[in-house]
Amino acid sequence: MSVRVTLVPGDGIGPEVAGAAREVIDASGAAIEWETVEAGEHMIPDYGTPLPDYVLNSIRKNKVALKGPITTPIGKGFRSVNVTLRQALNLYANVRPLANFPNVPSRYAGIDMVIVRENTEDLYAGVEHMVGPDAAESIKIITRAASTRIARYAFELARQEGRSKVTAVHKANIMKLSDGLFLDAVRTVARDFAEIELEEVIVDAMCMNLVQFPERYQVLVLPNLYGDIVSDLGAGLVGGLGVAPGANIGEDGAVFEAVHGSAPQIAGKNLANPLAMILSGVNMLKYLGEQGAAEKITKAIIVALSDKANLTPDLGGSNGTQEMARAIVRAMRS
Ligand code: NAI
Repeated sequence: MSVRVTLVPGDGIGPEVAGAAREVIDASGAAIEWETVEAGEHMIPDYGTPLPDYVLNSIRKNKVALKGPITTPIGKGFRSVNVTLRQALNLYANVRPLANFPNVPSRYAGIDMVIVRENTEDLYAGVEHMVGPDAAESIKIITRAASTRIARYAFELARQEGRSKVTAVHKANIMKLSDGLFLDAVRTVARDFAEIELEEVIVDAMCMNLVQFPERYQVLVLPNLYGDIVSDLGAGLVGGLGVAPGANIGEDGAVFEAVHGSAPQIAGKNLANPLAMILSGVNMLKYLGEQGAAEKITKAIIVALSDKANLTPDLGGSNGTQEMARAIVRAMRS
């Protein structure tokens, strides 16, 4: 029996990379039935919102979605659709695996880590106000419940994947109450995982360490804002946004999406690298128990990447989005 999955193509390069991911997943033989729903900036003229209710309803019903990027206008207009989705569906864990892929240019080798970012609170709770005309205040909210939940997710993941260390990233030396509470929650959870080492690193030092010795880290657990910043740094370590997959996981569902945004400069030009979206789809297949299809696609990606002619411009090649997807499909069939 096939599983119904919500597909949100999104804005900018979204429809191109979502189309590529769908083509590859369909060719893998995975038993997926797609329910495609539109969300994004382009919906505002007709619906008055980038996130019509039917999108949330579709994901609530199907419990699993593969989502393209959505444009968030800076400083004005609508609240980020991504933040709204994560909060509305309580997708509390943002999970971003980082690993070197053969033939993807990177300054480093031997990187194999997972970044686990808290997804629902911190400065992203959206509590902001003006204090008079010339000052603005954003409230950073950290709770023990959300910190404990994300810490537990990180340690469970480490245990499942046989990883021996979790690194908690914080700035508790300055934000003694908020980051102090986060750290305290992580320490408490760590006591239930005696076989896994807990390491604590201040976020600024972490950025330097990641640039110098990324291979030392296995699982990072971070509050929302540091997680957002550090995970783009992480994408840069393994070849850039074009190859960085992600997932937002909650108790009642999951939305899989690439780390990158809608890249409006290259939208509609068949230039976007579809790998980040395809790899997000591979992680979705694993989540759905479609291990065979996930492995088939992963092997085909390695074969496709071994031919430089298949690489997209961000990886130093001159191939298009569609051609990269088709090269992967061909590799699966041969
Ligand atoms: P971006 O990720 O769209 O682009 C950053 C740089 O990476 C650009 O040079 C872009 O051309 C390149 N790039 C991104 N994805 C690529 C791909 N698959 N292949 C090749 N090159 C790629 O980030 P930016 O410019 O900060 O954001 C653009 C819009 O996307 C904004 O409105 C932002 O809010 C939104 N955004 C949405 C996200 C989501 O829906 N999950 C995540 C991040 C940003």
